[in-house]
Amino acid sequence: MILCFFLAFLTTVPSVTSIQCHSCLTYCNTVNGKVDPINCDCTSPPNEQCTGNACFAKVEIFGSEHTAVVQKGCISDFPAGQRGCQYSNNKDTINCFCDQDECNTRHKLGSYIPSRLPSVDCCICNSHDGEDCESGCSRKCRGNYCVTDFEGKDLGCGLGYPKLPSFLRVDDYLDYEGDYMCTRYESSASHVMNGCVCTHPSGLCNEFNKTFNYQKKHVMERKNENLHYCYALTHRAYKPFGQEVFKKYATMSEREEHNIFFRSSTCDGHFCFISLTTSEIIVESADFRHNYEDHNEFVGAARPRFELQVGCLRVNGDDKVQTGCTVETQGNNSEVLAKHCICDSHLCNFHHLVRGTEDPRPKAAVPGVKQTTSQLNPVRLYTSNKEIDENDILSVMNGGEIIWSAVSGVVALVFMLL
Ligand SMILES: *[C@@H]1O[C@H](CO)[C@@H](O)[C@H](O)[C@H]1NC(C)=O
Ligand SMILES: *[C@@H]1O[C@H](CO)[C@@H](O)[C@H](O)[C@H]1NC(C)=O
Repeated sequence: MILCFFLAFLTTVPSVTSIQCHSCLTYCNTVNGKVDPINCDCTSPPNEQCTGNACFAKVEIFGSEHTAVVQKGCISDFPAGQRGCQYSNNKDTINCFCDQDECNTRHKLGSYIPSRLPSVDCCICNSHDGEDCESGCSRKCRGNYCVTDFEGKDLGCGLGYPKLPSFLRVDDYLDYEGDYMCTRYESSASHVMNGCVCTHPSGLCNEFNKTFNYQKKHVMERKNENLHYCYALTHRAYKPFGQEVFKKYATMSEREEHNIFFRSSTCDGHFCFISLTTSEIIVESADFRHNYEDHNEFVGAARPRFELQVGCLRVNGDDKVQTGCTVETQGNNSEVLAKHCICDSHLCNFHHLVRGTEDPRPKAAVPGVKQTTSQLNPVRLYTSNKEIDENDILSVMNGGEIIWSAVSGVVALVFMLL
C-alpha cells in the first residue's frame, strides 16, 4: 500500500526539462527601505550553478539594519504556481521564480519588483491589543488577500502571495480568487496554525464569525470519519540530525538537559506533512563596536540551522492540496536548502521523505497496512482507545533499533550533503 503510493508518486512527477540556475548569496544596503537591485545581484559560474525545474531569487529585507539579503538557487516546482516576483505575505520578503536557463538575475527578474495583483478590503483587528474581534468589522485595511487567524484571534491584510498555498502545494493560487483557503495544522502543541486566507472581491471576507463558522464546518468537521494519523514533532538544531528524532521517548540526557520526556507524538488530519529547512538567513554586524546603535555596516549570510516540522493538516477541500514534495537546492551538488512534503496515508510523514531515500521502516510495523485489511476505522480506534493503536505506532517509533543503526551510516552521509 505504502509502496504503491510512492511508486505512483514517482511516476506523477511532471517531467519538466532541467535548467541551470545561479546559486549564490549577496547583500546590500537598502535604499529607502527597499532592495537596491544593482548592488544586490549575484551570479555564479557554470560549474557552481545548480540544476532544477525552476530558478528562484529571494529577497529578505532587514529593516532596522538597513540591509537586504538576496539568495538564489534551484527549486523543483513553482510554489503556488507563482512566476515572476511577488511579496510573500509582507513587504520585507520578495520571492521570484522563473524557468529559463540562468534566469534568476535582476535583469531577467525586472529588478525584483513585484507584479501587480488585485486588491481587496479586509477587516483588521488585533485581539492582543484588547480589541473585540468577534463583533463585526470596525476597522478596514486593503491588501492582496485577507487573513483570519483563529489561534491569536487576529484579522488583517496580506501583501502578494500568502504562504499557505505554497505550504499546501497548490498549482495555481490565482485560480482560487474569491475562494477561501482554510487550514488547521500542527506539528506540536506549540506549533499550531489555524486560519484562513480569502480574496473575495466584494471585500471583508475575513469577518470573524463568518469565517469561524466556515472553518468549523469545512475544516474541523469535514471528513472526520476518514482521517489519517501522522507523526507530530518539531526539532531544531545547529547540527544535522537523523530519524532518531522520531522516536517517542527522549533519551536520559535530553530529559535532564531539556526537561523533555517525549520527542514525538501523533495527531490526525486529512493529510500529513514533513518540512525540513537546513539554513537561515542572518545579518550580523561587520564591526565590533559595543553599542548596537553604533553599528552601521552589516553582513548578510546563511548559516546552518536545521529545523524539522512534522505534523497533520486539515484543509477545506482536497482540491486545495497537492501531495508530493517541493525541494529547494543550491550548488552543483544539489545541497538541500528546504524540502517540504505532503502525503496522505497513515504515518507517511517519516524522515525518508525529506532524505529522499527508501522507507527504512519494517512494512509489517506500519499500521496503515494492517488497518486497511481490517474493517476497523483506524482513527476512531486511535482517538477513542489509544492503547490499541499506540502499540502499532510505538513499534514504529521505538522498534527497529537494528535497522536504524544499520542505516545510520547512510543518514550521516546524506546529511553531509544537506
Ligand atoms: C562544484 O562547485 C565547487 C565550488 O562550489 C567547485 O570547486 C567544483 O569544481 C564544482 N564541481 C564541478 C563538478 O563542477
Ligand atoms: C459573533 O459571535 C459571538 C459569540 O458567538 C457573539 O457574541 C457576537 O455577537 C457575534 N457577532 C456578530 C457580528 O454576529
